[in-house]
Amino acid sequence: MKPRITLVVACAAVLLAAHAATPAGARTGPVQLGAAVYTDAFLSDPDPRYRATLAGYDSITAETAMKIGIVQPRRGAFDFTAADAMVAFSEAHGQGVFGHTLTWCADSTLPGWLRNGSWTRETLLAVLEEHVTRVVTHFRGRVAAWDVVNEALNDDGTRRDCLWKRVIGDDWIAQAFRFARSADPAAKLFYNEVRADFASPKYDATVNLVRELRLGGAPVDGAGLQYHLTDRMPTQEQVQGAIRGLGDLGVEVHISELDVPVWRFGGTPERRFARQAEVYRAVAGACQAEPACVRITTWGFTDRYTWRLPWQESLPLPFDSEYRPKPSWSAMQEALTPPPAPEPEPSPAPTAEPPPAQPPPAPAAASAAAAPPAASPSPPPLSLTVKLRRQRLRTWLARRALAVRLQLEGTGSAQVRLVARVRGRVIARMRAVLSSGRRSLRIELTPVAVRALRRASGARVVLAAVATDAGRSAGAVSRVRAG
Ligand code: XIL
Repeated sequence: MKPRITLVVACAAVLLAAHAATPAGARTGPVQLGAAVYTDAFLSDPDPRYRATLAGYDSITAETAMKIGIVQPRRGAFDFTAADAMVAFSEAHGQGVFGHTLTWCADSTLPGWLRNGSWTRETLLAVLEEHVTRVVTHFRGRVAAWDVVNEALNDDGTRRDCLWKRVIGDDWIAQAFRFARSADPAAKLFYNEVRADFASPKYDATVNLVRELRLGGAPVDGAGLQYHLTDRMPTQEQVQGAIRGLGDLGVEVHISELDVPVWRFGGTPERRFARQAEVYRAVAGACQAEPACVRITTWGFTDRYTWRLPWQESLPLPFDSEYRPKPSWSAMQEALTPPPAPEPEPSPAPTAEPPPAQPPPAPAAASAAAAPPAASPSPPPLSLTVKLRRQRLRTWLARRALAVRLQLEGTGSAQVRLVARVRGRVIARMRAVLSSGRRSLRIELTPVAVRALRRASGARVVLAAVATDAGRSAGAVSRVRAG
């Protein structure tokens, strides 16, 4: 008997140790970099730079297109036109979609029929169930994660007043999570909060709320901290502390709505943007350092379209209004991508393989055309082409690397960032400073990426590359089936 007991105890110890080493909410691949999509720009701005820059992100979130006032403007009349277009865009570019938001505890955001209706607990619960169920079901299998409840707390940590809470009661939150889980059991369900970004009564209340919801059996898989910064700029340690406090509950955490206005930073524009970049670096570095942190989404990506008004003064995003990458963009890249691994391979022996294809039509980031007119003689445009070598899935798995051909022209040297994704999931990332010319690279695959690829037989591997030098950037995309 004794050996058996010893064995059971030993197994339990191993299981516990494994559990402690890999908390339930820990990410299983690189941090995703996301951007929120502004509906008017996405649907109506004829400038191709908007979509081209958006294509360089790993995931997208609708800034407003999935909110209740847009998808259910009249009771029972659902309109997914804008949201469908965004999801289709993400699928065409190998991106993930984070859904925002099924509910929001702010009456001003509700459509008139809901705000002005007269409701009982039963009738409003029925509305909540119908809304959550219809929206989540519509996007089932295409939207991998949802904000189920947005901003349900006051700054002092008490529950915020709103129609849902007034009429249904405090359990409206748990109910919303249950309805979402039933509609798509595979989707990750998040609670999202504003101004709870670092130690404060509201931060503590956010942690308590998530803990209590889970203890009560509500299916909460993740928590989002917004980081719409204004006065206080957090340090990396503060952000890490905030992520860890939630991650310790066993949930995924993400930075859900980052933007950093430069209003309060003094000095020249260069000085302000340098300071802004340090904040982006701190937040991205914190996410990279904390295993619970799965994603950073910036609330928009170009200063041309931001909700932080007046936009001419806030300039809070990583691309300027002409889609040129700002120091904040490079700072995030550096924080999220481990330093160079890119030993250029010894020149490949001549092969019969055809030369790289023509540059693809959709660059992954702002095109060189975005550069301002330069004094003559004008420098040659920065240009980049990439080609993921068409190899068998078996070869990728055996070599634990993707082979890439890359050609950079029009610069002395540029920072090149490469991201490979399968079904919206980042499987590999690399950054290097390269000089002009043509070369072969190997992008190492982590064991996690190898597992993801093994399951991805037949799926498309999308490689997005962006080259940046002194305020110019050029992008390229290559797609290959994992066959
Ligand atoms: C904002 C959008 O950016 C604006 O365009 C819209 O007018 C109002 O909502 N917290 C959230 C987001 O969770 O949904 C908000 O987005 C910003 C604050």
